[in-house]
Order: sequence, then C-alpha cells, then structure tokens
Amino acid sequence: MFNRLKVTPEAIEAIKNFSAPQGELVFGKVMVPVMIVSDFDNGEWGPLEMIPYGPISLDPTTKVLHYGQEIFEGMKGYRTGGKGPFLFRPEQNFNRFNFSARRMGMPEVPEDLFMEAVKGITSYCADFIPKRSGESLYIRPFMFATEEHLGIKPAGKMKFMVIASPSGAYISADYVKVKIEKQYTRACPGGTGNAKTGGNYAGSLLAAVEANKAGFHQTLWLDGLHKKYIEELSGMNFFAFVDNKLYTPKLNDSILDGITRNSIIQLAKDLGKTVVEEVMEIDWLLQKINDGACTEAFMCGTAAIVVPIAEFGDLSGNKWVLPNNNGPVAFSIKETLLGLQEGRLEDKYGWVVPVETVH
Ligand code: COI
Repeated sequence: MFNRLKVTPEAIEAIKNFSAPQGELVFGKVMVPVMIVSDFDNGEWGPLEMIPYGPISLDPTTKVLHYGQEIFEGMKGYRTGGKGPFLFRPEQNFNRFNFSARRMGMPEVPEDLFMEAVKGITSYCADFIPKRSGESLYIRPFMFATEEHLGIKPAGKMKFMVIASPSGAYISADYVKVKIEKQYTRACPGGTGNAKTGGNYAGSLLAAVEANKAGFHQTLWLDGLHKKYIEELSGMNFFAFVDNKLYTPKLNDSILDGITRNSIIQLAKDLGKTVVEEVMEIDWLLQKINDGACTEAFMCGTAAIVVPIAEFGDLSGNKWVLPNNNGPVAFSIKETLLGLQEGRLEDKYGWVVPVETVH
C-alpha cells in the first residue's frame, strides 16, 4: 500500500500503546503518537519515515527560527457512521503546499511523498479518528528550513513533517462577532498572503488580541492598500448572502485560496444559489446589512468548517447586526459539506478519497 513510507517498529509500538482520547475533544491539543518525517538536503529528499511523536532538536542558528521560512497545510481525516477513513480533496492541499513552497523559496515536495505521508498517518492512526459528526483527525503537513546558518538566503536543507490530532470544533461558539480591522494589515499585493506560511498568522496575532479585548471573536481583514475591500479572516475565508446571492471576495495575491471556500462555491451552486466572486467593499456590505439586504454572513475553513457571523463592529462602538446567526444558507451549506466529507452524501465530484487502514 505504501512504497515510500517506512514505518519504524518504535512507531508501531507507540500506536499499540496509545488510547484514543475520550470525551469532548478540543482542536489540535492531543496528538496521535506518531509523526512522519523526511529531510531534504543536497537537492534530494531522504527517506520518508513514521516515527514516535516527540520533540525535535534544532541548533539555535536553524534558519526557520530567525527568518520564518516555513509553510503548512490543514487537512482532515473523517470516520463517522462506520465509514471511512476519508480524506477530502487531498490533491488540493498538495497543490497548495507546493504553491506555498515556491512562494517561500523552498523546494517542492514530490506528490508520492506528500500523499504517502498524509495517507500513512490516517491509515495507521485510523482507530484514533473521532467518530462523532463534526469531529475528525486534523492533519497538519508542514515544512521548514533546517539549514544552520544566520545568513539570509533560501535554505538548502528542509524538514517535511506530518502530525495529526483527533480534534473537535476549531471554533466552539455557535456564531461569532467580527471586528472590522482598520489599523493593521494582514497582507498586501505582492506579499505572501496567498501562501500558507506561519508569518501571515504571526502578523495577525496582535490584532486578534486587541479584537478579543474589545469583545470580538475574529478579525475581518481588509485590503492592505486602501482598507476598503474585504479579504479574509486569517485562517478562514468570508461569504455573505446579499440580495439572495452568495458573495465571496474574488481571490487575489493577498487572500488564501481556501479549499473549503472553493468547495462551498460549487456546493452552493448545486443548492441553486447564485454565487458572485468579486471585490467586496466593506462599506457596501455594511449598507446592505443596514438595508436588510444582507441576511447572513459566515466564515469557512478546513478547521472551522462553516461558522455564522452574528455581528460586525469596530473600535468606535459601531455595530452591524445580522438578522440570522444560524441562517438557512450557512446551515444548508455546512450540512452539505459535512455530509459529503463524512461520506453520507453522494460524491459526484470525486472529492472524497478513501484510505485503506493498516493494523
Ligand atoms: C485550517 O483551517 O486548516 C487552517 O490552517 C487554519 C488554522 C488557523 C487552523
């Protein structure tokens, strides 16, 4: 089943000795007892190995610690209702991983290396995939610069890894209040906003802390140049239902090309919705909320799935409240997406990839 992946006896032992977490699961806290590793050096990828989960040791000059040359992906393994395990559109994560690698001056990973790693961890850890709807095995492939040298140039050595966590909801609230971010910028044209790299998230954290202090759950990022157009929520993409049409910001190089976003566009069309991808002015949206023409808004992502937005606000105390904080559009889209991912609905696009289990 795996040609490239080598599973060490210690990894098998670690799996045998591990018990799946019981009770309510939080996101990304408990990890499965193994991880997958491959090192890149001298222009070549070394062996792909599954080893016991544990700390990695790095020299203090390791480039990633100073210059942040790092990328990652977020994926899920599903196993509800006695079905699965399934992965959802893993080739999209693979493509985006290599897109991010190119943008960050890193080597691409070969398809078999990426796929055997994510399928390997899903397969060997199938018993630890939660079985309740909405829960899953959150899979985190990542790669970082391991060259030991303080010079600023693309590293010649990389580590590719995959870890995984039996996880519950990323956002535990049923709906969120969103701060319209007018001061800070997440990304700008020509930057790295459309690459899945740690720095984009690090740069959003201060704004998130300030938003939380002001009573908001999330930050809505506007375009870096004019602070006028809606972009995304850092970790999630944005949708609004306005005048009976589903709007989402048209992609540009400062918005992450979400796989959930892309899937929702297709599923919403299948549900008979008109989907509009275009630049969305924040003032236009707020006016539509005031007029009652915007009835719902929601954010979406692999980890978050679909989370309704109840309210937008700013630091001046202005508020724009939506009439539906669990509206029918967000609800039907979430049900359809989850039904497909969990193998309950017909998969007419071939998005759901079964993974063979190994015992
Ligand atoms: C994901 O949805 O997988 C992400 O990478 C977002 C992250 C903030 C958890």
